[in-house]
Amino acid sequence: MKEEQALRKEAEQIIQTVEAAGPFRQQFHLVPPAGLMNDPNGLVQWQGVYHVFYQWMPFHTGHGSKWWGHAATRDWVHWELLPPALAPVHDFEKNGCYSGSAVAHEGFLYLFYTGNVKDEHGNRTSYQCVAVSSDGVEFEKHGPVIYQPEGYTAHVRDPKVWFESGFWWLVIGAQRLDLEGQVLLYRSPDLWEWEYLGPLAGKGVTLGASFGYMWECPDFFELDGSRVLLISPQGLEAEAYRYQNQYQTGIFAGEFSPETGTFSHGRFREIDLGFEFYAPQTFLDERGRRLLIGWMGVPDQQEQAQPTIADGWVHCLTAPRELTMQNGHLYQQPIEEYRQLRKEHASAVVAVDNEAVVWQSWNAAVAEVYLDVEEDKSWTVSWRRYFHISYDAREQTITFERPDLETGAPVCRTGRVNSARSIRCLFDRSSAEVFVNDGEYVSTSRIFPEQEEGELQFSAEAPAVFHVDAWELQSLQWE
Ligand code: FRU
Repeated sequence: MKEEQALRKEAEQIIQTVEAAGPFRQQFHLVPPAGLMNDPNGLVQWQGVYHVFYQWMPFHTGHGSKWWGHAATRDWVHWELLPPALAPVHDFEKNGCYSGSAVAHEGFLYLFYTGNVKDEHGNRTSYQCVAVSSDGVEFEKHGPVIYQPEGYTAHVRDPKVWFESGFWWLVIGAQRLDLEGQVLLYRSPDLWEWEYLGPLAGKGVTLGASFGYMWECPDFFELDGSRVLLISPQGLEAEAYRYQNQYQTGIFAGEFSPETGTFSHGRFREIDLGFEFYAPQTFLDERGRRLLIGWMGVPDQQEQAQPTIADGWVHCLTAPRELTMQNGHLYQQPIEEYRQLRKEHASAVVAVDNEAVVWQSWNAAVAEVYLDVEEDKSWTVSWRRYFHISYDAREQTITFERPDLETGAPVCRTGRVNSARSIRCLFDRSSAEVFVNDGEYVSTSRIFPEQEEGELQFSAEAPAVFHVDAWELQSLQWE
C-alpha cells in the first residue's frame, strides 16, 4: 500500500535524524528511537524470541495517531530493533493503532489491537482489530473482529487475549454510558468469531460503588493460585497514601469461573508507589514465568515537562519484572537475566551517626544498588542529590522524593509498608526502580539529576548501619 510505505519512509528518516540521545538517554531500558513511547503492547515469547511492541508516536513528542514499535530479544540483553509492526493507515484505525496483545497459534503470531477513529467533529469510534504474521516481522491486517458493544461509550479498547479451558478469551477496558469504568469479557473458538459474555468487573458487576470513569489496559491471569485482574483505572480521587498520580495501576485478586464467565475479587491494591508507572502488561514466557513490563509514564501528568523532549524523545518502558503472589500479595522482581548486565562491583558497610554520610567510592550513573537496612530505624538514602528514599519506622511509610518536573520544588509519593528491610534499586541515568523487601513494594520513577556521578548519601534518625552492594551495569546490546 503506497500510503503506508510513504509513512514508514517518513518515520525512518526521523529515526535516522533524531535517535534518542542526550544526558538522560537510558542504557538498559527500552526508549523510543525518536518521538513518544507509551504502553508496552503484544508482549510474547514466540519460537524462543521475546517480542516487545510499544505504543509509538514517531513524528513528535506528543500523543496522536499511534504506531506499534517493535523490538526483539532472546536473552533480554542482545536486542534487535525491528521495523514498526503497525502503522495507522486504514479507515478502521486511522487515528491510531492503540494498545493490545499478542498470541501465538498454529505457527502464526496474532496481534489484537484497538483501531481508534475520530471523525471531523472529534467523535470517536473504536474497533478491536487483528493482524497476523508468519515471521514475526511483517503483519497482515485483517481489520475489526469486535465492534462497539451496546451500553458503552466509544472508550472501549486495549484487548488482551489468552487461551484457557478450550477457548480463546479477550478482555477490553470500557466506559459505561453513565461514565463508569468496567472490563468486558469475550470468548472465541478460533480467534475470529467473538461472543460477548458481558462485563467481567466494575461498578454494577463486582463493585457497588463508582471506581473511576474509565478502565484502561486490562490483563487477566492466573498467578500462584490466585486470579488477578490488572487494570489502569482513571478518575480515582487522591487519598492519604493512595492514588497520588494522575491515573493509577493496580490489581483485584480473586477467583474466576470459566464455566460462568464470572469473577469475584477483593479490594483494589496499587502495585507501584512511584511517580511514573502505568498501563503494564504481562505474559507467560516459555519457562512458565509471568513477566510484566510497564510504561514509565502517566498520561496527562507533566508529560510536556519531561526534559528529554529537548532531545526529541520522551518516556520509556520499565525493566522486565517477574511476578509472584505470596500470601495474597503481588511481588515484582527484576528478571534474573538482568544479572548479566553487571560489571564493576563495590561493597561497603556504612555506619551513620548524627551526620549524613556520602559513599565516595561509587561513581556510576547506571547501576544496581542493594541496601540492607535496620528495620527499626528511620532513614534516608539519596541518589545523585536528586532522588530521596526515606523510611519512617514509626509511621511505617516509605517516601520517594524528587524535584517537581515543572516547579523544581520537592514533591513526594508516600506509601504504607509493613517494613523496609532490603532495598534493591535499578538506576539508569533518568530512571529509578526501587524494589523493597524482595519486590513486596515497588516504586518506579523518572529522575533527571544534573550531577554526573552516582553518589549515594545516607542519613538516619538514630545511629544505623547500611550494608551496600553495588554494580555498574552495562547497556543493552543492539544489532
Ligand atoms: C493507555 C492508553 C490506552 C490506549 C493507548 C493509546 O496509556 O490510553 O488505553 O490504547 O494508551 O496510545
